[in-house]
Amino acid sequence: MILPLSFLAAALPCVLAAYTWKNVKIGGGGGFVPGIVFNPSEEGLAFARTDIGGVYRLNSDDSWTPLTDFVGTDNWNVWGVDALATDPVETERLYLAVGMYTNDWDPNNGSILRSTNKGDSFEVAATLPFKVGGNMPGRGTGERLAIDPHSNNILFFGARSGNGLYKSNDYGSTWTQVDSLPDVGTYVFDPNDANNYNNDAVGVTFVTFDASSGESGSATPRIFVGVMSNGTDNVFVSEDSGSSWSALPGQQQTYFPHKGVISPDEGLLYLSYSDGVGPYDGVLGAVYKYDIAGGNFTDITPVSGSDLYFGFGGLAVDLKSPGTIMVAALNSWWPDGQIYRSTDSGATWSPFWAWVSYPTMEKYYSYSDSLAPWLGPNYVDLSVDNKQIGWMMECLVINPFDSDHMLYGTGATIYGSHDLTRWDSEHNISLSSMADGIEETAIQALISPPSGPSLLSAVGDIGGFVHEDLDTAPAASLPDYSTSASIDYAGNKPTNIVRVGNGGDTEQQISISTDSGASWSLDYGSSSGVYGGKVAFSADADTVLWRTGSGNGVLRSQNTNAFAAVDLPDDAAIASDKKNNTVFYAASGSSFYISEDTGSTFTVASELTNTTAPVQIVVNPDVAGDVWVSSDGGLFHSTDYGATFSTIDGVTQAWSIGLGAAATDGGYPAVFAAANIGGVGYYRSDDEGATWEQIDDAEHRFGAISANPLSGDPRVFGRVYIGTNGRGIFYGDIA
Ligand SMILES: *[C@@H]1O[C@H](CO)[C@@H](O)[C@H](O)[C@H]1NC(C)=O
Ligand SMILES: *[C@@H]1O[C@H](CO)[C@@H](O)[C@H](O)[C@H]1NC(C)=O
Ligand SMILES: *[C@@H]1O[C@H](CO)[C@@H](O)[C@H](O)[C@H]1NC(C)=O
Ligand SMILES: *[C@@H]1O[C@H](CO)[C@@H](O)[C@H](O)[C@H]1NC(C)=O
Ligand SMILES: *[C@@H]1O[C@H](CO)[C@@H](O)[C@H](O)[C@H]1NC(C)=O
Ligand SMILES: *[C@@H]1O[C@H](CO)[C@@H](O)[C@H](O)[C@H]1NC(C)=O
Repeated sequence: MILPLSFLAAALPCVLAAYTWKNVKIGGGGGFVPGIVFNPSEEGLAFARTDIGGVYRLNSDDSWTPLTDFVGTDNWNVWGVDALATDPVETERLYLAVGMYTNDWDPNNGSILRSTNKGDSFEVAATLPFKVGGNMPGRGTGERLAIDPHSNNILFFGARSGNGLYKSNDYGSTWTQVDSLPDVGTYVFDPNDANNYNNDAVGVTFVTFDASSGESGSATPRIFVGVMSNGTDNVFVSEDSGSSWSALPGQQQTYFPHKGVISPDEGLLYLSYSDGVGPYDGVLGAVYKYDIAGGNFTDITPVSGSDLYFGFGGLAVDLKSPGTIMVAALNSWWPDGQIYRSTDSGATWSPFWAWVSYPTMEKYYSYSDSLAPWLGPNYVDLSVDNKQIGWMMECLVINPFDSDHMLYGTGATIYGSHDLTRWDSEHNISLSSMADGIEETAIQALISPPSGPSLLSAVGDIGGFVHEDLDTAPAASLPDYSTSASIDYAGNKPTNIVRVGNGGDTEQQISISTDSGASWSLDYGSSSGVYGGKVAFSADADTVLWRTGSGNGVLRSQNTNAFAAVDLPDDAAIASDKKNNTVFYAASGSSFYISEDTGSTFTVASELTNTTAPVQIVVNPDVAGDVWVSSDGGLFHSTDYGATFSTIDGVTQAWSIGLGAAATDGGYPAVFAAANIGGVGYYRSDDEGATWEQIDDAEHRFGAISANPLSGDPRVFGRVYIGTNGRGIFYGDIA
């Protein structure tokens, strides 16, 4: 694939080792899918966008292919996709509006990426003069990027932050502001948010061309635009290709327009509204249809009164069956998500489920999560969430070539059906998880113990997994915590594993397994309100050292007794020796610490050259006292319990590191490092750091490098696991 210069690593300092990279299959997505778009002209062509993990293309077997794995640490914000547009004229053209945050969490302006091969490769068509917020509030509205169906050189993009509407006449290469739009969307969710996250205007929510107003070869005259403003008109129309705009007459002003979808054969614009910006909020809303020729609105909200306790998000029209429409609740948090379908243009509706007699629900569907068996209700085994249909349902689409084929995105996955019209004949359809190939999880930590399952993960939002088989979706996620922050095994007794949770799901945020993660017991030595950070398990599994993430400093517990404070800096990197049960290590600032009394007390063992911020301590699973430390100053190795360190030549900065199986029997473990070794990337050394081979490549760059966990496999030479923030786990093998 051809990549623009900006996507290539700056320098390739050393030998490149050919690696094959695959996702460790979790299956089912594992995160919010804010947008799914079918191309209206080419049968079967569809794309899904995610808020932190890039874009995917649909395959004919219902699986998805990732398209943005070229994203690395220099362009990590490209994984935040705020809008996508697939070209109705030249269907191989695809555009993405990318950028992660509009606050200073993302220092870069947004950009428009362009593909002329359906996403097999992209170029930067334009860098925008403002930020784009793919992971900001309101990211499920849309699409705010649209291609003129009669003159596909013309694109409109609706920006955030009060920047308004932009137009390109040259396939997205250059953009000018359309300053005639009367309202750029002024609503902010929380004007006082100190993080500058909820106080930025969501801005323009959708741009929708009305193809019926024009003809091939010249700019389409009629365009609808929704904006997020409260108490004023917020849907506008242009009849002159975007030169001038007027508010639709007689519109409601109470709710925000999330979607505006044309039903061409009916001459209608359907609109879903919520009183929330999405994706988490919404307690009231409405659905309207607007008769384009008549210029009049009809309220077609499916429910009212006490049955209406949510707004509306996802909105689909069946292009093959005019008058058939569907709309998703945003959000029906209890007892489950809700979807409504009408075959008479919204005059009457039927629901996806109904109460028979409380608390029994009649479900007008059968349910399958065979492609991601961990998914279902209680998917993090907290026994608090029985939702099956989903939540955060901001996108709902019907295949324009197949009335039986529906897809919708939730906060956790994509669900879909291939027998949708059975809703009308029997009021019962088959609902399945249809996110195979989408790996959208945020990985917090990885371990590959020397025996038992080859990989265990600590994962954001969906707990984590024992990965018995790297290519098969796990049956269940790890219990107790929706986010697991850290995990470690005991070196001499590697079936013993400790894990820390990141919040209030359960009181005790430390959990211990003695059977390689098959079952877990809460550690009642940990107390409520203390969570997150890093854990280390002593070699014989009797002592847990915990650098908390909740501001409670470093704590220690032996034999599951109450955790007690340890005198170490709050930001210390920690690790256990994998052989010597009495030894723990820590590092902070330039100091490397050792404990020789199972973590009760620490003393400074040595100073790390050139270091102000140690990142990770990794200990040889086979040799006591053999320790590696990564830091902002490089990579360091000790064979005497940290009393002295040698500096690894050529490594100017290192983040996650790991040790794996040796190249030769009895040899020194392979060393893996996310590091700057004449260039930022992922490297392997088979000679204790003397020489390195780069193992990532232009098509596999794993997003932002600094927080990606990494682990070697102690049983398979060359194999490494890399966790990402939004693209799940990859495993790499020597090609
Ligand atoms: C973003 O665009 C603005 C407007 O052109 C410019 O002033 C600013 O320097 C840009 N920021 C970055 C990081 O390039
Ligand atoms: C919109 O404005 C009205 C009137 O000020 C207010 O009652 C309502 O809460 C606002 N809606 C939102 C979502 O803030
Ligand atoms: C709009 O008005 C026209 C003409 O009165 C009428 O035929 C049509 O049904 C109305 N449309 C809606 C959506 O109410
Ligand atoms: C819909 O079909 C499924 C599977 O056959 C069945 O379990 C369910 O009870 C049906 N729903 C209704 C309301 O009949
Ligand atoms: C384990 O560490 C302790 C404390 O440093 C030391 O006294 C002991 O010799 C070590 N044991 C082994 C087997 O290295
Ligand atoms: C010290 O670290 C800086 C980066 O933080 C690096 O540029 C420099 O080469 C390092 N010096 C040595 C002696 O390793």
